Amino acid sequence: MYTAKLINVSCYLILGSCLFACKPPSLAQKEYDWNLPKGFPIPLVPKENPMSVAKVTLGKSLFFDVDLSFNQSISCASCHQPQFAFSEPQQTAVGSSGQRHRRNTQSLVNVAYNSNLTWAHSGLNQIEQQILIPMFSEDPVELGITGHESQVLRRFEKLKYSKLFEDAFDDSEADFDKIVKALASYVRSLTSFDSPFDQYAYQSDDAAMSEAAKRGMELFFSEKLECFHCHGGFNFTQSSQHENQILDLRPFHNTGLYNVNERGAYPIDDQGLIEVTLQPGDMGKFRAPTLRNVEVSAPYMHDGSLATLDDVIEFYAAGGKGHGTLNPLKSHFLAGFVLQLQQKQDLIAFLHSLTDRQFLNSNLNYPPMSPQLHKN
Ligand code: HEC
Ligand code: HEC
Repeated sequence: MYTAKLINVSCYLILGSCLFACKPPSLAQKEYDWNLPKGFPIPLVPKENPMSVAKVTLGKSLFFDVDLSFNQSISCASCHQPQFAFSEPQQTAVGSSGQRHRRNTQSLVNVAYNSNLTWAHSGLNQIEQQILIPMFSEDPVELGITGHESQVLRRFEKLKYSKLFEDAFDDSEADFDKIVKALASYVRSLTSFDSPFDQYAYQSDDAAMSEAAKRGMELFFSEKLECFHCHGGFNFTQSSQHENQILDLRPFHNTGLYNVNERGAYPIDDQGLIEVTLQPGDMGKFRAPTLRNVEVSAPYMHDGSLATLDDVIEFYAAGGKGHGTLNPLKSHFLAGFVLQLQQKQDLIAFLHSLTDRQFLNSNLNYPPMSPQLHKN
């Protein structure tokens, strides 16, 4: 009888472990395939929020949904528009209450690799943290959820979302923790590595870039122009981290855009990194942004003050803008240079060769719930 009992117990054990092991993995656990070209490193992802197909799907739906703003007027995608590499043509962003943001909307391209987020912050390192700003900030208001939390959450109780939440988290109930995690997963999924430059440089397709673009590439990587010092690596920014490299180079620079008091000050409404670190040397420092898809993300700079790539090249050729050229805090790489017209065109051709049409087109048929693009 004793043996029978033992057999019984072990039967339960075998049955139990089989039930455990044989259960098909739920969608929430289904592994995400980064689908990166050979040789590119996988971005670092926080342990608390591993990537999954279902989370990216939910995040995408949320990203384009105006229901996420307190007055149902805008979505993340109203500012981060796919056809402009998830930036927008406005000089500075406008939130759901009509309040103007002081900064230009950043493009969201390979953001998964950024070790510092936003234009000038050394302490914002995780997309999950950063997303709380557009969702809950009260000054400026972006989506404006603060004070309207339960009203906003109620909108995600409908059947369509219950299923998406269930798939992503094995739990159909919407809450802000899950919303942030799903949005972060979607933002991480926005990788772009199929520009003519990539085809030329990483896929050995010599014909992918025009001769003009190749000449422009030489200029970009020359000591005369110095561009690559700050826009370096496969992402054209120093603010990168991934599985093979955790080293953070110097991502923030003063490029001599302003100099309001001849001692290097930037305008009081936006002085860059100094606002976070309080270090006088950080006056006017901003993060060098990625240059991938820069052709479509005009206007440029943290305040959208340069309208075209032509203006940007004039700016670097002059070693800054106006009094900014004499900014004592300006990076020594901003010494200025002289380019012939043809060379300028070549440099622009190179910047255009960083456009990944496949990436830009792959999101065009979205959204199912079209954002009302706010005009201003
Ligand atoms: C009102 C326009 C607006 C809305 C809405 C908005 N953003 Fe942004 N986003 C911006 C601006 C402007 C910045 C730059 C902020 C700064 O530097 O202070 C930015 C920066 C970011 C960044 C940092 C990118 C980088 O390279 O560091 C991420 C990620 C981001 N937004 C994601 C989102 C998500 C997700 C949503 C929706 C929950 C959203 N944004 C809604 C305007 C907007
Ligand atoms: C000292 C570092 C440094 C050097 C050298 C440098 N950049 Fe930049 N670049 C930056 C920073 C920082 C910004 C953002 C500045 C701001 O917003 O105030 C920027 C912005 C840009 C932008 C605007 C991108 C956007 O999304 O708004 C372009 C285009 C650009 N740089 C191209 C170049 C080219 C071309 C060269 C070489 C001629 C170059 N950069 C040299 C640091 C640098």
